Amino acid sequence: MSAHLLEATGIVAGYRPDLPILHGIALYVDEGEVVTIIGPNGAGKSTFVKAVAGLVGITAGRVTIDGRDVTGRPAHRLAGEGVGFVPQTGNVFTTLTIQENLVVGGSALPRAEAVRRTDQVLSIYPALASRRSEKAGVLSGGQRQMLAIARALLTQPRLIMLDEPTAGLSPMAAAELFTLIRDLVKDGAGVLMVEQNAKAALRMSDRGYVLAEGENRIDGRAADLLANPEIGEIFLGVRPGTAKAEGG
Ligand SMILES: Nc1ncnc2c1ncn2[C@@H]1O[C@H](COP(=O)(O)OP(=O)(O)OP(=O)(O)O)[C@@H](O)[C@H]1O
Ligand SMILES: [Mg+2]
Repeated sequence: MSAHLLEATGIVAGYRPDLPILHGIALYVDEGEVVTIIGPNGAGKSTFVKAVAGLVGITAGRVTIDGRDVTGRPAHRLAGEGVGFVPQTGNVFTTLTIQENLVVGGSALPRAEAVRRTDQVLSIYPALASRRSEKAGVLSGGQRQMLAIARALLTQPRLIMLDEPTAGLSPMAAAELFTLIRDLVKDGAGVLMVEQNAKAALRMSDRGYVLAEGENRIDGRAADLLANPEIGEIFLGVRPGTAKAEGG
């Protein structure tokens, strides 16, 4: 039996050791999967991905990557374990150019390697490549997210975690970003994302988890979650019997 790409079990974590926010979260991501975490505001979704990313202290439980224990590994050392993280806010330096933003992401790499991978990542995203010397501040919200993802890709992560990548984007920009995120798993990486845009996110995901009050509530195949009336009611803003057809 091979290990999951990411496996988290019994995660207790928070911003103060005496005040846990997560009360024993369990979650896994396999290679080639997009897995989405949904749940109400304050559920602990961001806290969970930050805990896995080494940015929030874990007081109990275990995080493994390909079966290797990385629990509590600080963020700057997780890149070497194949973990990339795109945080919820402030993920590009607006006063730096697109090129410079990417170079920052590769700062842990030898210079020549960073340059090679910057070119490689830009070749995947022509919309960025043609503007590499422009300031990131001129990019649209969707392009900034693309840049933040491109930067995370510099260290060639096997697990890419994204916290609300479509926040503030138009439905069209969000759809484009979801396409780009789907592409990330084609070569065997895994994606774990947090989304408010629950319905659209589940439609492009393989599996999902519902968190509430720092606990696992429901999880399963994305299609099953979409069809689950309990979730429709509580988390997707659909009252039973009033589900309306949606464009796109
Ligand atoms: N830096 C922080 N210091 C102390 N408490 C925090 C901090 N960040 C979040 N919290 C608290 O942790 C709990 C979970 O917050 P978290 O940000 O993980 O929720 P979330 O599910 O991501 O919510 P949202 O949907 O609003 O992004 C909340 O009660 C919040 O007030
Ligand atoms: Mg959050």
